[in-house]
Amino acid sequence: MSRENFWKTLPRPFLALAPMEDVTDTVFRELIMNISAPGVLHVVFSEFTSTDGLCHEKGREKVIERLLVNPSERKLLKQKGIRLVAQIWGADPEAFYRSARMITRDMDFDGLDINMGCPVRKVVKQGACAALIKQPALAREIIQATLEGTDLPVSVKTRIGFDRIQTEEWMGNLLETGISALSLHGRIQKVDSEGPVHWEEIARAVRMKNEINPRVVIMGNGDVMSLEEARERSEETGTDGIMIGRGVFHNPWIFNPVQREHSPREKTGLLLQHTRLFGNTWQNRKNFDILKRFFKIYVNGFYGAARLRAELMEARSAEEVEKIVSHC
Ligand SMILES: Cc1cc2nc3c(=O)[nH]c(=O)nc-3n(C[C@H](O)[C@H](O)[C@H](O)COP(=O)(O)O)c2cc1C
Repeated sequence: MSRENFWKTLPRPFLALAPMEDVTDTVFRELIMNISAPGVLHVVFSEFTSTDGLCHEKGREKVIERLLVNPSERKLLKQKGIRLVAQIWGADPEAFYRSARMITRDMDFDGLDINMGCPVRKVVKQGACAALIKQPALAREIIQATLEGTDLPVSVKTRIGFDRIQTEEWMGNLLETGISALSLHGRIQKVDSEGPVHWEEIARAVRMKNEINPRVVIMGNGDVMSLEEARERSEETGTDGIMIGRGVFHNPWIFNPVQREHSPREKTGLLLQHTRLFGNTWQNRKNFDILKRFFKIYVNGFYGAARLRAELMEARSAEEVEKIVSHC
């Protein structure tokens, strides 16, 4: 018996916050959901989590932390009706099976997502993530093993090719499996995040799914910077939803239909909220410097922002951040 396939019940077009390593942990997800208008953001993802790491007793505790969900985030997910999906990666079907079982049995996620798109050399060298585009039979085996280990809906996040555009063959391969959803970044592995996003290839993938397997939900992804753009992209390609990643760095309030200027106080307020929640959640288990990549998200676009940012980059603790912000 399958659990609810929430992908089928989402409004069209829906919006998702993309999984981002060292970014979309429970702290950042809560922060973004908190400032998003009700009914605008529908799905959030965890950071990608290693199936090998989950299966090895040694070091497992650290790996499992990537799937941590704070009670305050849990409450917000419920309140706002947002779905939470755990993203996993690896190259061994058995590890996917065991990880899927473990996550389904011990944790509380709405879906499982398999990373078949990360272009980073370290993971590609292991035959995982985007490398699976070159191993379609293994990719299918991994999907099958995951489906056998869970009754949650399983999705795949991928790209339109490895070293060339391969939408036709790669989508054909994925659409014949039992996945419920697919997020498609309109670039190939080789270009990472450079160059244009091929929305025409995403549209082609939608046409293919309409023929091969209309039940699969497709999200388009790549360089979407506003809700208006999300709506336009979805309309022109026929995707069911749009996934937004770096758009939140440019505007953390992106998931609001009415856009307005945010005051320096609101921005630094968000920074303090992030810093406090980060400290309370991770204590010394995560390096404080991870927080620094967020400073430019919050501290920009106002007089004195550059100077404040420079001061914040020197901070070594949450207390120092508080002190610097309170004096600005
Ligand atoms: C800092 C960072 C970390 C990322 N980590 C992941 C990840 O863990 N899993 C994944 O599937 N994609 C990851 N991505 C890719 C994004 O999910 C997304 O596909 C990509 O950034 C393109 O979308 P965007 O232009 O809206 O950002 C990451 C991207 C960035 C910028």
